[in-house]
Amino acid sequence: MFPQTRLRRLRYHPVVRDLVRETELSPSDFILPLFVRPGTNIKKEIASMPGNYQLSVDRLIDEVGAAMKLGVRAFLFFGIPSGKDAQGSTAWQEDGIVQKALRALRPAFKDSLLITDECFCEYTDHGHCGILCEQGGRMDVDNDATLPNLARQCVSHAQAGADIVAPSGMMDGMVSAIRAGLDAAGCTHIPIMSYAAKYASGFYGPFRDAAESPPSFGDRSCYQMDPANSNEALREVALDIEEGADIIMVKPALSYLDIIRRVKDRFAMPTAAYNVSGEFAMVKAAAQKGWIDERRVTMEILTSIKRAGADMILTYHALDAAKWLR
Ligand code: PBG
Repeated sequence: MFPQTRLRRLRYHPVVRDLVRETELSPSDFILPLFVRPGTNIKKEIASMPGNYQLSVDRLIDEVGAAMKLGVRAFLFFGIPSGKDAQGSTAWQEDGIVQKALRALRPAFKDSLLITDECFCEYTDHGHCGILCEQGGRMDVDNDATLPNLARQCVSHAQAGADIVAPSGMMDGMVSAIRAGLDAAGCTHIPIMSYAAKYASGFYGPFRDAAESPPSFGDRSCYQMDPANSNEALREVALDIEEGADIIMVKPALSYLDIIRRVKDRFAMPTAAYNVSGEFAMVKAAAQKGWIDERRVTMEILTSIKRAGADMILTYHALDAAKWLR
């Protein structure tokens, strides 16, 4: 009999394994989401997201500084405002919470990339991602009435120091409305990272505690995508690219690796994947129980997201992973 050994030859020597590895992670792949709230000296751990905090601006500066030292230089900001109303008007106030954070961080960290999440669910008293209306006897989010507010929010963030705006509300036409608003305000250099294929997912559970943004009634199925759909994601992404999106996102990541791959293959665009709160919480919870090896599982997950086609990963594991990559 001839020996059958063939593919295993390249797995025998650890240095060969390193040479033939197809996917390599680096701290520069990561974007760390951060939650900023009013007050001073506040660092309140989010119960379902160990190692993640609601931070006042002063403590946020420390957190960003620590991340930069680990090589994580890109951040996504969510605001927990002091006041909410039906429109979410605290989202575009010049002295809003995210605007304050940006004005403090911008001069302190010149080499950092400050990305702002653009949505209203943290700012509206009803917790939906835009202005409400009634449609055929049902409550809905008024798509077109929400667009000018989104543009105002983005311009306000850009003027406060944001480098990239990332609309997450899944309104149709949001990218073109924001592009027009930014351009009119002289912010032609600010890219748009669009949450293009964002699913109505149960995996956002812990985030809604973190951002204090759960909908007070109903869910987000009339604006976010049905988890059962894949072709529709391609239509979402195509439309956002046509409207001027510079980076497109698939969210969540793990249950949607097939979507990441299809989107990357079809459009060959800079592609982001959001490894969301519930995905993070599951790993942390199982690790705390000793049921999985946290480091190994985390790195496997992040590698798989990149292997699926993501160029960048928004992840709450960013600091842990950056430490492990040193
Ligand atoms: C705001 C927004 C959400 C997330 C990011 N931006 C929540 C939602 O759509 O309900 C979720 C992020 C996460 O779960 O980590 N629209």
